[in-house]
Amino acid sequence: METPARPVFLSRTESSEIILQSDLNHLGHLFGGRLASIIDKTAAISAIKHAHSAVVTVSIDSLIFRRPVRLGSILTVKASVNRVFNKSMEVGVSVYSLPPDGPEAEYVCNAYLTFVALDAQGKTRELPTVLPETMEDKRRFAQAGIRRENRLALQAQLGKK
Ligand SMILES: CC(C)(COP(=O)(O)OP(=O)(O)OC[C@H]1O[C@@H](n2cnc3c(N)ncnc32)[C@H](O)[C@@H]1OP(=O)(O)O)[C@@H](O)C(=O)NCCC(=O)NCCS
Repeated sequence: METPARPVFLSRTESSEIILQSDLNHLGHLFGGRLASIIDKTAAISAIKHAHSAVVTVSIDSLIFRRPVRLGSILTVKASVNRVFNKSMEVGVSVYSLPPDGPEAEYVCNAYLTFVALDAQGKTRELPTVLPETMEDKRRFAQAGIRRENRLALQAQLGKK
């Protein structure tokens, strides 16, 4: 029996943390690799909530950091499953930073990650489809399809390694 589609809201995940000295690069801003790790972890939690099983990251699309994040800022990372393809799913992530002296959170970056779910033998397994309900869910669902086309086209052009 096919698993029923799962609404996007079930995979919604939000994590926040305060940026400490140990998170900074030599210029005193949040280190990009540290941010990538926080993004990957939050996205993985979202993927697990959708898949109800262990998942692994297959890819992280290009990450463009739009503004530096300062010491003492509160970083908030929001993730949800945008779309399920066959055995993979795209998780969309948005990152905001509230500076220690600022009243408003600032946009830092978006990220799109692909995950697969694994069974007990470590083999990829089928995923329930996702049900986009809101306008925003539907926009993300449609755009995830465009990104996948681009990923597949690029992979075909460059040759899979
Ligand atoms: C993920 C992994 C299991 C996929 O193995 P594989 O033999 O390429 O499997 P498949 O070809 O069946 O692909 C599985 C899915 O991944 C997708 N995929 C493969 N390469 C991809 C890429 N570069 N970008 C996005 N999706 C990709 C495929 O399209 C497929 O999804 P679909 O069924 O929805 O189309 C394998 O590459 C792996 O174990 N990688 C290491 C994962 C890991 O350890 N991650 C942690 C960071 S190191």
